[in-house]
Amino acid sequence: MTALRQLFVTTALPYANGTFHIGHIMEYIQADIWVRYQRMRGHAVNFVCADDAHGAPIMIAAEKAGQTPEQFVAGIAAGRKQYLDGFLISHDNWHSTHSAENVEISQAIYRDLKAAGLIEARTIEQFFDPQKGMFLPDRFIKGVCPRCHAQDQYGDNCEACGAVYAPTELIEPYSVLTGARPELKTSEHFFFKLSDPRCVAYLQEWTQDGRLQPEVANKVREWFDLDENGSPKLGDWDISRDAPYFGIEIPDAPGKYFYVWLDAPIGYLASLKNLLAKQGKDYDAYLAQPGLEQYHFIGKDIITFHTLFWPAMLKFSGRKPPDNIFVHGFLTVNNGEKMSKSRGTGLDPLKYLHLGMNPEWLRYYLAAKLSARNEDIDFNADDFMLRVNADLIGKYVNIASRAAGFINKRFGGHLGEVSPDGDGLLTHLRDALPTVTQLYEQREFGKATREVMQLADRVNEYVDANKPWELAKHSGMDARLHDVCTTCIEAFRILTIYLAPILPRLATEVARFIMRPPESFDDVLTPLGRGARIGEYRHLMQRVDAKQLDALFELPEPAPSAPHAAETPVADAPGGEPLAPVIGIDDFAKIDLRIARIVDCQAVVGSTKLLRLSLDAGERDAGGQPRLRNVFSGIASAYQPGDLKGKLTVLVANLAPRKMKFGLSEGMVLAASHGDEKTHPGIYVLEPTAGAQPGMRVR
Ligand code: MSP
Ligand code: ZN
Repeated sequence: MTALRQLFVTTALPYANGTFHIGHIMEYIQADIWVRYQRMRGHAVNFVCADDAHGAPIMIAAEKAGQTPEQFVAGIAAGRKQYLDGFLISHDNWHSTHSAENVEISQAIYRDLKAAGLIEARTIEQFFDPQKGMFLPDRFIKGVCPRCHAQDQYGDNCEACGAVYAPTELIEPYSVLTGARPELKTSEHFFFKLSDPRCVAYLQEWTQDGRLQPEVANKVREWFDLDENGSPKLGDWDISRDAPYFGIEIPDAPGKYFYVWLDAPIGYLASLKNLLAKQGKDYDAYLAQPGLEQYHFIGKDIITFHTLFWPAMLKFSGRKPPDNIFVHGFLTVNNGEKMSKSRGTGLDPLKYLHLGMNPEWLRYYLAAKLSARNEDIDFNADDFMLRVNADLIGKYVNIASRAAGFINKRFGGHLGEVSPDGDGLLTHLRDALPTVTQLYEQREFGKATREVMQLADRVNEYVDANKPWELAKHSGMDARLHDVCTTCIEAFRILTIYLAPILPRLATEVARFIMRPPESFDDVLTPLGRGARIGEYRHLMQRVDAKQLDALFELPEPAPSAPHAAETPVADAPGGEPLAPVIGIDDFAKIDLRIARIVDCQAVVGSTKLLRLSLDAGERDAGGQPRLRNVFSGIASAYQPGDLKGKLTVLVANLAPRKMKFGLSEGMVLAASHGDEKTHPGIYVLEPTAGAQPGMRVR
C-alpha cells in the first residue's frame, strides 16, 4: 500500500439563506465519492463544510423574517442534516462562519496581511440608502440599464443585454430595500493589494503551473492580462463593509466589518479547527504537517475567489495555500432548463427523499455523468431511469441475485472451488484495480462507472454461457453449478468494492451478505475462498419506477380554459382550478403574510385595473417613524378607492419589490377570485376578523 496521505478536503460553504438545492447535493456527492475513495485507499481525510452565514443578503432576509441574523441562520442550519444524511454525505464536520474559530482566524489572517504591507485604506464613494441608513450592495440597487435601457436591472450588470457597469451608471437608480433614490456617500474601505507585484507573481505561478484544470487555468489567465495602463487586470480587492453588517469586526476599525467573501473561505479552516478540537488534536500541528494536502471542491461560479484571493490570502499571511481547487460545472435539470422552482423543473432533493427514492440511484447517476472537467451536466429523468435500471441493477445487482440462491439452497451457504475459466474472469476483474483506482483519483467518475459496467458485462456473459439455472436442473452438474455460482459471488464482491465510494450503503449491505466488510480497495485481491460462508441474500435494490419520477417532477396543473371548465366536474377543480401540488410547511413558512391597515387607497391615473394602496404593516424606519408600504393591486374592477380605506387586510410582506410603470410596488394584498374570471367575475379582498393588529403574522 502507498504511504498514508493526510488530506484536508472541503466543499463550498453554502449561503445560509436557503435550503439546499440539487446543485449543492451534486457538489457534495462528487466530493464525497472522492473522499470515500481516499479513505478506502487507507488515507486519512478530514472532510469539512460549514454554513456561510454572513453578508448583507442574509442580514436583510433575517430582518424580513422578523428574526435576528443569528436566529435566521440557526434555523437554516437545523435543516441541513436531513439532506446530508439522506444522500449519504460523509462530512466529518459541519460548522458555521459565524463562529468563534472563524472570528479568531479571520482577524489573525487580516493582521498578518496588514503586517505584510498588503492592506491599504482608501476612501471610496458608494450608494447609500437614506431611508434605511445603510450602504447598499450592488445587488440591492436597481435601475434602468445604461446601455439597452431595460428596466429593473441590478447595480452590477444587465440581465437583458449582459452589460457590466458600476451602480453609479444606472439610470434612475433605486434602492431595492425601500425604493428610495440612493445617494452617493464617501466611506473608508480596506483593500487587499492583489496588484502588489509579489501577489501577481505568486498567483501567476500558482494558477499556471499545471495544477489547475486546463479550462480553469485558461479562464483565470485573463486576470494577468494588462489593462491600458500596463498593469494587470487583477485589481485590489475591497474587503471591508460598513455597519450595519452581519459579519466579523475588523480589528482596530470600529464600525467596519470584513466583506463576507473574506471570512467565507476562512470558514474552511474554522470548521477544521472545530473538528480537531473535538478530537483533542492540535490545529497548528495538523496544518504544519509537511505532507498535508488541501483540496477544495467548488462550482464554476466561484473560481476567482478560490484561485486568486484565497491562495493569496493564505500565502501572504504566512499560511499553507491550497494544493488544488477542483471545479465542477453546473447541474441543470431535464434538458438544461435553468432550475426554477416556480416552473417545477427543479429537482427538490428533499422531495426526492420523501418519495422514498433511493439516494444511491442519484449518487450512481451523477457519478456516471461526472468527469474531472469543469462542464455542466444535465439530470434527465428518462436517462436516469435507464442508467439505474439497465446498468446499475440490470448489469451489476442482478449478478448476486442470480447466484446467491443456489449457494444458499444447494450448498449450505458455502462457496466452492473456482475452475480455470472462472479464475480467468476473476483475474480480469482484479487486473482492473489500478485502472479503476486511478480513475477515482483523477475524479473521472463517469469513466470509472463505465469501466466497472464493462466488467459487469463480462460477468454476465459468463453467466449466460454457463446458465446456472440449467445446471441446476441436471443431476451430476452440482460441482459445476457450485463453481459457477462461486465465481459469480466473488465477481460480485470485486465489483462491489469498485463501486463502494459511489454506493456506500449498498456496499455495507453486501458486506453483511458476504460476511466481510469492504474496508479497502486492496480487498479486491483477497478472495473469499473455498468454504467461505455467505449469508442470506436479501434483495439489494429496487428499480426506479416511472411513477416516482412523475411525482418528483409533477407540475402544477394549468388552469382549465373556459369551455373545458364547463365540462370538468367541479369536484377536482374547486373555485375553477385544481389544487396546486402539495408543499411542506417549510415552503409555506417562506411566505411572510402580515396584517396591514389600508391607510389610503387611490385610483391610478392611466390604469383601469390598478388601485394604489398605502399600507401600515406595523413597520418603522431607521428613525423610528411608521413606514408605509406602497402596493399596486389589480382590484379596481371590484372596489372604489373609498371602499377600502381604513380596513385591515393581509399583505405578502416579503415579496420582492417590483418596479411598475406607476412606481414601485412593495408587496401584494391577498384577494380571492374564481379560476375563470370571464364566467365568474368578482374579486374579494381578504379581511381578518376583529382584533387583528397591523404587523401580526398570518400563519
Ligand atoms: N457561499 C458561497 C461559497 C463560499 S465558499 C467559501 C456560495 N454559496 S452557494 O450556496 O451559492 O453555492 C455553494 C456551491 O454550490 C458552490 O460551489 C456553487 O458553485 C454550487 N452550486 C450552485 N448552483 C449549482 C448548480 N446548479 N450545480 C452545481 N453546483 C452549483 O457560492
Ligand atoms: Zn442592458
